[in-house]
Amino acid sequence: MVQVQCQLAGIAIGQLLLQLGTAAQIPLYPESHTEGYKFDPLLHLPGISPYFDVIGSGLSHAAPQYCEVTAASYLIRHAAIYANDDDYEQYIEPFIKKLNCTYTSSLSNKKRGGWKGPLSFDKWENPINDPENQLEQITPQGIKDSKKVGKRLLSRYPKLVPTTKRIYADKRARIKDTAAAFVKVFPQEVEVVEINLNRSSFHAQDPHKACKAFSKKPGNGELETFMSHYTIPIISRLQRFSPVKLAETDIMGLQQLCGYESAIRGKKSDICDVFTDSEWMAYEYAWDLKYSYMVGHGNPLSPYLGFPWLNTASELMSKFHAPRHEEGEGEGEGEGDIPDDDGQRFFLAFTHREVPPFIATALGLFNSSNAFAEEFPTDRINWSRSWKMAELIPFLGHVGIEKLTCKEVSMDQKEEKEYVRVIANSAPRPIPRCQDGPGASCPFDEFTRIVRRGMEVYGDFDGVCGNDDEEDFGGL
Ligand SMILES: *[C@@H]1O[C@H](CO)[C@@H](O)[C@H](O)[C@H]1NC(C)=O
Ligand SMILES: *[C@@H]1O[C@H](CO)[C@@H](O)[C@H](O)[C@H]1NC(C)=O
Ligand SMILES: *[C@@H]1O[C@H](CO)[C@@H](O)[C@H](O)[C@H]1NC(C)=O
Ligand SMILES: *[C@@H]1O[C@H](CO)[C@@H](O)[C@H](O)[C@H]1NC(C)=O
Repeated sequence: MVQVQCQLAGIAIGQLLLQLGTAAQIPLYPESHTEGYKFDPLLHLPGISPYFDVIGSGLSHAAPQYCEVTAASYLIRHAAIYANDDDYEQYIEPFIKKLNCTYTSSLSNKKRGGWKGPLSFDKWENPINDPENQLEQITPQGIKDSKKVGKRLLSRYPKLVPTTKRIYADKRARIKDTAAAFVKVFPQEVEVVEINLNRSSFHAQDPHKACKAFSKKPGNGELETFMSHYTIPIISRLQRFSPVKLAETDIMGLQQLCGYESAIRGKKSDICDVFTDSEWMAYEYAWDLKYSYMVGHGNPLSPYLGFPWLNTASELMSKFHAPRHEEGEGEGEGEGDIPDDDGQRFFLAFTHREVPPFIATALGLFNSSNAFAEEFPTDRINWSRSWKMAELIPFLGHVGIEKLTCKEVSMDQKEEKEYVRVIANSAPRPIPRCQDGPGASCPFDEFTRIVRRGMEVYGDFDGVCGNDDEEDFGGL
């Protein structure tokens, strides 16, 4: 049996090669799928890597056959910054100080002495050379990357993007700058509206800023424990190349510099080559663990902070939802009329790294846990976790909700049905509870039901956040 199958496959490939003639550069050999694999640390840096499209579960990124995306709403993280305050203060700056004390020669000819082998830092230039002005600010490469991702979305939604009239951005400079660069590549004028303290939009797009009970601390202890564990063999490997005593935080700082320097300069930093693949996987795990407790399934607040945006998106899409509004919508409304419709079908809001994970958590994406307590051990890597934040929150990381209008889904071929797909960094992410539609999409009504039920359970935003005082929230 097996032999026969192999033979048939051989013939088929042979014929295909003949037909393709010179166009046979397409990889036809099954082995090439893995033979081409090369480890890339930039794909394993949760929170601090340049943007990349992810493959996801393997589903096509284009709309499923016979389906068209007829509306979409995206929430996007800002572009690359020089470094964030915490990463700089805790990990990067202490290491830079050590580097600084190894300068050997006079001011005019600056060289660092004593660094060897993989740690040849004698001539390395620190990309964060003006922290006072750079920290938390978007980099020139970040502006370029914003435009690139903007172009990607325009080519993905050539009909929808031109309908966009206004988009929303948090008031921080890095976020407004990202938004402004992003929409420069759109063919039309777009107004960038600052997310104001209007409760409903603020809860949806900046929920952690509107929630008193939210703190960035959860996971710090676990991160530290795991850092102490994974850096031991790295320090023992690298110490001989360093003139100063390396600390755990120096390893973390160096690994972060790989991400930040690559994002600042727009090309892979040499520091990335200092570490081995498994050392990068340990770094990745450390931050997945941290983010899980801070903004993921390990923080009971997460679904409360994720549902408001889903609710806004669901209500918005319901306005455009077939069977449309021709019946029972009161007098005076013509066929297909939508109240207050200005034709916009593509919606964008720019925000912080925390928010896409809240949304993923609310929907149960990146979740394969059966018992949370053992999902993130702090003395070893859990290789089978599905919480991989490198794939959700690089700089410019995003989640989108696509409304799909599909034909040929029932016996009546003309009948159109509507579905929803969740997109994260270009790839569809099936909703675990709802994936019966084309391309593992979720039937529209089912989606709105899931969100409604979510709001019933996780709707008490002000309650869990302890926002007792009406006026006193959003302490930015
Ligand atoms: C390191 O040295 C450079 C050049 O002398 C200086 O500009 C910078 O402030 C120093 N950085 C730290 C963290 O000490
Ligand atoms: C707040 O935002 C919502 C949704 O964006 C909008 O419907 C509402 O009118 C706004 N309210 C105020 C007071 O601006
Ligand atoms: C995550 O997965 C576990 C196990 O399958 C499940 O019990 C839990 O409800 C899931 N969380 C969400 C938000 O779907
Ligand atoms: C690893 O994570 C998976 C999926 O989240 C979970 O089912 C499993 O129990 C975890 N394993 C360990 C050793 O913690």
